[in-house]
Amino acid sequence: MRQQIVAGNWKMNTTIAEGVALAKAVVEKVENPRGKVVFGAPATHLDAVSRTIAGNQHFGLAGQNCHQEEKGAYTGEISADMLLSAGADYVILGHSERRQYFKEDNAMLAKKVNLALSKGLKPIFCCGEPLNIREKGSHVAYVSRQLKASLYHLTEEQFRQIAIAYEPIWAIGTGKTASSAQAQDMHLAIRKAVSRKYGKKVANATTILYGGSCNAANAAELFSQPDVDGGLIGGASLKADDFVTIINALK
Ligand code: PGA
Repeated sequence: MRQQIVAGNWKMNTTIAEGVALAKAVVEKVENPRGKVVFGAPATHLDAVSRTIAGNQHFGLAGQNCHQEEKGAYTGEISADMLLSAGADYVILGHSERRQYFKEDNAMLAKKVNLALSKGLKPIFCCGEPLNIREKGSHVAYVSRQLKASLYHLTEEQFRQIAIAYEPIWAIGTGKTASSAQAQDMHLAIRKAVSRKYGKKVANATTILYGGSCNAANAAELFSQPDVDGGLIGGASLKADDFVTIINALK
């Protein structure tokens, strides 16, 4: 069975002390999760949070972004090496907020994916359509284009390191979740697209997460879908009890 993941995306929330307390509360309550639990903590928190989860194989740590260049004169940016040195093993790339507010496009994301992989960081690659594209009915083509432009240059071996997060933009932070049927349809479409490019075996092994107002009340229904392998959780990952309920909803 392919790996399931529940990843929390804390975004620009919590102080270091609050983040460590949150991670501790989750670690204490989760014993044998049916998948990997990843904290997408702010870069300033990674080192401290990594000590909270040290030695616990059920937990991982993600940066929320990294720069596409290895190092240099990019004031304020975070490199893949910095994330690794702070204890991260994953990096969230291409989140819609990065695409929207920081003008990250498919070509830039291809470079970020390359650099992350070259350093041994596992990308959680986000894709997803805005509302007008969904209303036009061209969401499958839109998301397929995002994957093609940023991922399909990878070798099979590299692609196997990627987890995909499908996050319809109209569902992020809006309280408007995709229905489990909408999520399943898109996840299946993504798996089929991956299969056309890398073959069935790779597609069947690819972890595809759902993101967008996934919460303690709807996670079990979403995760029960055959092609939904967990979630990328924003708001609900900031409450330990809710996040634990979501982790326990894995199949
Ligand atoms: P949300 O965010 O769960 O608050 O909708 C999800 C995300 O942006 O990853």
